[in-house]
Amino acid sequence: MAAFCARENEDNPSSAETEPCARAAFKADKRPEVLAMATRTPQLIARDLFQSFRIGARRIEVLRGISIEIARNEAVFLSGASGAGKTTLLYTLAGLERPQGGTVEFEGLRLYNGSSATEARLRNEKMGFVFQGYFLLPELTALENVLLPAMIGRRATTDVAEESLAAVGLGDRLHHLPAELSGGEQQRVAIARALINNPDIIFADEPTGNLDSKTGDAIIDLLLNLSRARNKTLLVVTHDARLAARGDRQLHIKDGVLQ
Ligand SMILES: Nc1ncnc2c1ncn2[C@@H]1O[C@H](COP(=O)(O)OP(=O)(O)OP(=O)(O)O)[C@@H](O)[C@H]1O
Ligand SMILES: [Mg+2]
Repeated sequence: MAAFCARENEDNPSSAETEPCARAAFKADKRPEVLAMATRTPQLIARDLFQSFRIGARRIEVLRGISIEIARNEAVFLSGASGAGKTTLLYTLAGLERPQGGTVEFEGLRLYNGSSATEARLRNEKMGFVFQGYFLLPELTALENVLLPAMIGRRATTDVAEESLAAVGLGDRLHHLPAELSGGEQQRVAIARALINNPDIIFADEPTGNLDSKTGDAIIDLLLNLSRARNKTLLVVTHDARLAARGDRQLHIKDGVLQ
């Protein structure tokens, strides 16, 4: 466990060095009454989130006053029925979907508040996202798909993309197109892409949704091991209660609120 507690990210001296072995601390503190709240200085703070959608004459209230705190290096799993609002909540926390009410603060910066360019840069540099259903560009190779976010950001190098693909076990699939890869391999490419800019947090939306249970287990192992080894916060959406239990903390969304 000690090896997982050393921080790799030299860019971010204010973070985990002062909070060693955070994950171990969370394992010891899984009290239900702190379900939605982190026990240390949070990295991500959401307060009173509201979101609703109008479909014809009907309005669906998807988020009805959700508050959540996530600490650095925590692995939080979010479950809930189909349509319960998991993706909506993940997008809202990641700065991708403005809520109708409430606030989101990430590493001290209030999202949906300042210039969209600043927020886009923050997302690009500090957040990695594994989207529901891979979202790989079919005409680009694995290597090119992984390089994309780095080309938008500041640190685009093929070496880093190759290292990222090697870290997910695809060092020998660099030049394959998505159609030439299995579902599990495509999901690994999506994870390598989320890692490319060395983010502080990884959001993963149903990363095992399209996979058989053995491949799904391997993907969760990979996400947990990589986030532990590289000191990254992890927020994973899953339908699977068995997989959700593998994180430090579980959240369940039902009727627009967290349980
Ligand atoms: N842009 C939108 N316009 C209208 N309705 C939307 C929009 N986005 C989401 N919804 C509705 O909000 C509800 C929650 O959607 P969301 O995608 O967050 O659910 P989910 O929990 O991720 O479901 P799943 O497990 O099927 O992925 C659904 O009823 C969906 O139809
Ligand atoms: Mg979803």
